[in-house]
Amino acid sequence: MKKILITGGAGFIGSHVVRLFVTKYSQYCIFNLDKLTYAGNLENLKDIETYPNYTFIKGDIVDTDFINNLFAQYQFDGVIHLAAESHVDRSIISPLDFIQTNIIGTVNLLNAARFTWETNREDKRFYHISTDEVYGSLGDEGCFTEQTPYNPHSPYSASKASSDHLVRAYHDTFDMPNIITNCSNNYGPYQFPEKLIPLFINNILNNKPLPVYGKGLNVRDWLYVEDHAKAIDLVFHQGKKGETYNIGGNNEWKNIDLIHNLIEIMDEELGRNKGASLSLITYVKDRAGHDLRYAIDASKIKRELGWQPSIQFTEGFKLTVKWYLSNEQWLKNVTSGNYQKYYETMYANR
Ligand code: NAD
Ligand code: DAU
Repeated sequence: MKKILITGGAGFIGSHVVRLFVTKYSQYCIFNLDKLTYAGNLENLKDIETYPNYTFIKGDIVDTDFINNLFAQYQFDGVIHLAAESHVDRSIISPLDFIQTNIIGTVNLLNAARFTWETNREDKRFYHISTDEVYGSLGDEGCFTEQTPYNPHSPYSASKASSDHLVRAYHDTFDMPNIITNCSNNYGPYQFPEKLIPLFINNILNNKPLPVYGKGLNVRDWLYVEDHAKAIDLVFHQGKKGETYNIGGNNEWKNIDLIHNLIEIMDEELGRNKGASLSLITYVKDRAGHDLRYAIDASKIKRELGWQPSIQFTEGFKLTVKWYLSNEQWLKNVTSGNYQKYYETMYANR
């Protein structure tokens, strides 16, 4: 049986990837390595935790000895690396956490995989999941392609850019079987409510202000998380070693338009008058270094691997809202304790 290590599998995207691999590939042993930071939540994987081909390992990718011992013990055949500090606002408050996990953690995994696969790299894969934010910010026109030069602006995106460079360098220098994908904004179930969509769903539900950064004119390209997980499955199995693939939803939204759309769906679902929650919109100080626009050209992955998004935004967005509303206990659990402290620090001075 192939042994696949998925890092960050208790997080938002990772939990969807773990679920897909565990349920689809009974012939693989799936190991989910996660530190369970504030963003990691084993509740996200309750439905598959007893599958015989699934093992959870609690651990920190920054801990070199731990990672080396883990690879020596299990001799993984493939790595799908999602573990990261992922929230731009947190990276502005605390950049060092991002340097540690996103850069040092990635190098620890690269070193351990390189050593483990020294004599036989056939059929091995080191797949690094990255972001479109490494490319920087676009004006009104154009899209990021795989050739767009890196130009990150936040400590988060700079740390992801750095890890991408290292993954490429390990391919070029040590002939490692590495692949990278750079994806746009994901939305869907199990996203931690610090990110725009689940944060605003939670706030509308609780009649709390909706903090719109700046004028709300920034543009993001939204992709349903299960479509990202399917792309990851495809790239892991059919992507070419040394290649990079962009993944995106071809679905650009100005923040303020997305928020109006969300309010419309939420008011309807909650039985409120049409537009009742519009008064919750509160314009606050802009995010420092806020990238204006992201848009992905995903033609390479479509052309070479046949992937394209399968879920239309109108459908995916409604599904997402309904999921959070019917999983209020999940929302309550993750919005208690540490999250609350973070929330107060983040928005107290805005
Ligand atoms: P997330 O914050 O929801 O989950 C990250 C997971 O990594 C958590 O379970 C956390 O406990 C774990 N983790 C953090 N530090 C760790 C460490 N030192 N050791 C082990 N585990 C650790 O993030 P996400 O939104 O699911 O993103 C997953 C990956 O996808 C990240 O690499 C991110 O850069 C990338 N990405 C995210 C998006 C998006 O829209 N969310 C888009 C493109 C790419
Ligand atoms: O593009 C991919 C990236 O998307 C991923 O690499 C990141 O891990 C992920 O967090 C996401 O980054 P963003 O910064 O785009 O996502 P966020 O949900 O934080 O913000 C989306 C937009 O909404 C952005 O323009 C900032 C704005 N925003 C966000 C929050 C949390 C607000 O206006 N108010 C808010 O309170």
